[in-house]
Amino acid sequence: AKIFAYGIRDDEIPSLNGWKEEHPEVTVDYTQELLDPETAKLAEGYDAVNVYQQLDYTRETLAALHEVGINKMSLRNVGTDNIDMDAAREFGFQISNVPVYSPNAIAEHSMIQMSRLLRRTKALDAKIARHDLRWAPTIGREMRMQTIGIVGTGHIGRVAMKIAQGFGAKVIAYDLYKNDEVEAQGLYVDTLDELYAQADVISLYVPGVPANEHMINAESIAKMKDGVVIVNCSRGNLVDTDAVIAGLDSGKISDFAMDVYEDEVGLFNEDWEGKEFPDARIADLISRENVLVTPHTAFYTTKAVYEMVTQSMSASLDFINGVTPSIAVEY
Ligand code: COI
Repeated sequence: AKIFAYGIRDDEIPSLNGWKEEHPEVTVDYTQELLDPETAKLAEGYDAVNVYQQLDYTRETLAALHEVGINKMSLRNVGTDNIDMDAAREFGFQISNVPVYSPNAIAEHSMIQMSRLLRRTKALDAKIARHDLRWAPTIGREMRMQTIGIVGTGHIGRVAMKIAQGFGAKVIAYDLYKNDEVEAQGLYVDTLDELYAQADVISLYVPGVPANEHMINAESIAKMKDGVVIVNCSRGNLVDTDAVIAGLDSGKISDFAMDVYEDEVGLFNEDWEGKEFPDARIADLISRENVLVTPHTAFYTTKAVYEMVTQSMSASLDFINGVTPSIAVEY
């Protein structure tokens, strides 16, 4: 069996080498380059490709893989929203993702950002850096005083709920697909509008499927409490960034944390030091004291990276062996 992996970063290599040692019968080669219509040719002669979600896997990219005989693709991440599924179906691709690599990685980051917003650590850190050690006016708010609205109660949302409950917050939740445990705790509200009306803080844990695109927009923001806090560590396309900026400007939104951004491709995970951002909006957001921007790093922990690499490589091998891995994507 021969697997070719794209976009391998230095921090993935120990996990990849560990997996290789456990599977000496498998040839594994890799590149740091990302999969695109050009680099697809590198997979010629292999049985499967292993990739992670960074660029869009367009019809053109999938066609280029198909041309060199590849129709097995394992993602080292959870999101599949970058894949042209119609094209994938047409070319007969078998696809897997890693739906549960470490829900805690994302859940923890989202709750850390939420508590940082409430305690205004960005303003406090800036003050301390300029040697202003006074308390006022950087007064914080306590988690336990908040009603936290969890949108999406999958693996990640449920860990976030537990963390929020650990802080003593009142948690309410919304999901189209109810989870028994959450239901048993009586935490669901029936509609998103109810969640918007009740929550002091709203945190998103839903996928970036077309139906969820710009769910946070001018109309939904208008339904939220004045001074709402919003956290998005899920997908950039969930949020209409212009509407959030307008909400921040008017004060309707008091604070905002974003680990994802609708225009993040080519922007995040790049070094812009000493260069001008190609995107004036991100420069504006980063400059605000009540906005926390992290560049899609919520997932980025040692545990998550290990699980992403090893689970996806095993799925690639399963496909090659004619076995459907439990993490195959049905589409
Ligand atoms: C995901 O797992 O879907 C992520 O957002 C992580 C990223 C490496 C693509």
